[in-house]
Amino acid sequence: MRLAVYPGSFDPVTNGHIDTLQKTSKIFDKIIVAVVHNITKEALFTLDERVNLLKESTRHLENIEVECFNGLLADYLVEKRACAIIRGLRTVTDFDYEMHMALMNKKLLPNVDTIFVMSDTNYIFVSSSAIKEAALMGGDVSSLVPPVVDASLKEKLAQMQDIR
Ligand code: COA
Repeated sequence: MRLAVYPGSFDPVTNGHIDTLQKTSKIFDKIIVAVVHNITKEALFTLDERVNLLKESTRHLENIEVECFNGLLADYLVEKRACAIIRGLRTVTDFDYEMHMALMNKKLLPNVDTIFVMSDTNYIFVSSSAIKEAALMGGDVSSLVPPVVDASLKEKLAQMQDIR
């Protein structure tokens, strides 16, 4: 079975991520979306919330599973018997960071390759941080995220307004 892992912080999942999954779900038999706690990023959504948002947003794709993981990606790939890592590329600015990460993972796990998927031009400027910033200031991001994410961002905004 050709199993690939799509790792990331997904805080929250955007239509850019869903586009990547729609494309790669046709190539692999199964994809595990692995939600990672990235210590360098302050998260808006808990890991459980991010997993649930991803599950809701990928219901239309049969061969996708969502999990969270801690630790080294290479160890997780071995545990899952994955043959590939999926990563999205938006612009050339992503390339340097992604290349270093892909080469490190290749060194740790020579049998596993990173597969890069070019972002749809509609989502080239989209990042989870930009979505959060715009949404929490009342901006309309409904065309850039799945409906369930849009609703959850509105809930977070309402909670923040209640606290103030
Ligand atoms: N559409 C929209 N946004 C996209 C996108 C696309 N197609 N592709 C990437 N992005 C955005 C994400 O929204 C995210 O935005 P943000 O920075 O505003 O949150 C950003 O690009 C990239 O983040 P992400 O994909 O979540 O990766 P990351 O850099 O946070 O983490 C891991 C990368 C999780 C894969 C890496 O840290 C990891 O493997 N960690 C485990 C520990 C380990 O093994 N480390 C050694 C690795 S060599």
